[in-house]
Amino acid sequence: MKVKNICCIGAGYVGGPTMAVIADKCPSIRVEVVDIDKERIKKWNDKDLRNLPIFEPDLAEIVERCRGINLFFSNLVKEKIKHADMIFISVNTPTKKKGLGAGKASDLRWVEESARQVAKFSNGHTIVVEKSTLPVRTAEVIQGILKSAELDKDRNGISFDVLSNPEFLAEGTAIKDLEKPDRVLIGGENIEAMDALSEIYSKWVPKEKILFTNIWSSELAKLTANAFLAQRISSINSIAAICEATGADVREVSRAIGTDSRIGSKFLDSGPGFGGSCFKKDILNLVYLAEYFGLNDVANFWESVVNLNNWHQKRISELIVKKLFGTVTGKKIVVLGFAFKGNTNDTRESAAIQICKDLLDEGAEILIHDPKVSELQIEKDLKMKPIRESEDSYENKLFNKKGSWKFSKNLNIFDNAHAVLMLTEWDEYKKIDWVDVSNKMVDQAWVFDSRSIIEPRKLKNVNVNLWRVGDGTKSNNNSLKF
Ligand code: UDX
Ligand code: UDX
Repeated sequence: MKVKNICCIGAGYVGGPTMAVIADKCPSIRVEVVDIDKERIKKWNDKDLRNLPIFEPDLAEIVERCRGINLFFSNLVKEKIKHADMIFISVNTPTKKKGLGAGKASDLRWVEESARQVAKFSNGHTIVVEKSTLPVRTAEVIQGILKSAELDKDRNGISFDVLSNPEFLAEGTAIKDLEKPDRVLIGGENIEAMDALSEIYSKWVPKEKILFTNIWSSELAKLTANAFLAQRISSINSIAAICEATGADVREVSRAIGTDSRIGSKFLDSGPGFGGSCFKKDILNLVYLAEYFGLNDVANFWESVVNLNNWHQKRISELIVKKLFGTVTGKKIVVLGFAFKGNTNDTRESAAIQICKDLLDEGAEILIHDPKVSELQIEKDLKMKPIRESEDSYENKLFNKKGSWKFSKNLNIFDNAHAVLMLTEWDEYKKIDWVDVSNKMVDQAWVFDSRSIIEPRKLKNVNVNLWRVGDGTKSNNNSLKF
């Protein structure tokens, strides 16, 4: 079966870039990306490519090449489903907030709704591809919904195949990951449908990198990959705390263990704790699955990865307060970076959210800079409005027990700061002149580097104290132990 018309439901961080790359690599396929969010689609269609809803290196260039030719963005969900012979479901699957499995299981209502729309509007034979990361056996739910449509005599012989094709791209490197994937995973039952999807990828991915599995292995492999990656980060962050207590340096420990080919060097950077839309959600999904099958020790094992991450974030906010003489009330703290990692405007589960909330609870005055995240997004994440100039009086600050925050678009923000807190590894922060910054900050100020992007020698003769995550050596001025 040759695919000519693709429809992708969900124009998010996964659906958008993935479909852009498919359109770019397969000029003979028409790719329609649909989304219920009108604002998001408007941004995807904006003439000014700087206004695309997602920032990803090289994405704008691809959109410029393909948009209006074989790549289209619209809210026409029903119409585009009708004409598609392959439909990707790429809607969000957040952790359930209430009901059965709340706090752990994924909320599948949008996947279910998408499947119902496919069942209602599709024509002829349609291959439905799960692109969203989903709990194991979700395909069964989708198949169930589609089956009733197949049996409906009024629908004139429609039929479906369901495949699982999880996306392994990481934000910030999405285009690179899509163009040169380590592997493409296709899980399914019908080999013809699997071949049809494989044929699309084989336009640019070597055949040996396209793996076929059964559908449940494919769903579980995606959860497992994310759980293993997140586990490495919690492991190295736990070692960072030991380094700080013992005089070791986590960068040296990472280098030493990473050269062991069985361990490998990737995902061994200690940081402020992992963020992003996937790691926490997918591990909790695995925890839920294990609990459901009565595998409580397995559930506890994976849950501890998330618990360690929460503890690590708290540890950072607590040590900031302790280093600043036990209080940050009324003290100006500059926060560099709010995105959950560099090269993305995404803040979902960013460590910056919890750390800033903790510091605000302690009464700090925070000045936040991020080159790609908007003030409005930070306001949503912190659930607090920024302080305006008119409220910025001494009296206000004195009685504002909760602390306050402001956003800055430029880096002219270090005057009278008590501390700088580095939370996202943006390249521009590597170029900061610390001699100049230290002259602007108060005496005995601190720089907290949770991303290891400052070279300690650059602060050697500078009048500020430096704390680096996982650095227990003397250069780290680590006189207090936590
Ligand atoms: C999401 C999930 O978080 C992830 O687990 C999964 O692997 C892929 O989908 P992401 O693309 O980052 O990842 O989510 P998001 O940026 O929130 O995009 C989802 C889009 O789906 C949104 O634009 C939303 O408006 C849209 N959507 C949601 C629909 O078009 N229809 C719906 O019924 C629900
Ligand atoms: C992750 C997976 O990598 C990807 O395969 C999957 O499809 C989606 O989830 P993403 O969340 O976009 O991708 O980014 P990733 O690079 O994995 O980083 C996740 C978090 O871990 C970030 O907060 C990052 O800063 C942190 N991290 C990563 C570390 O703290 N240390 C590391 O060594 C690597």
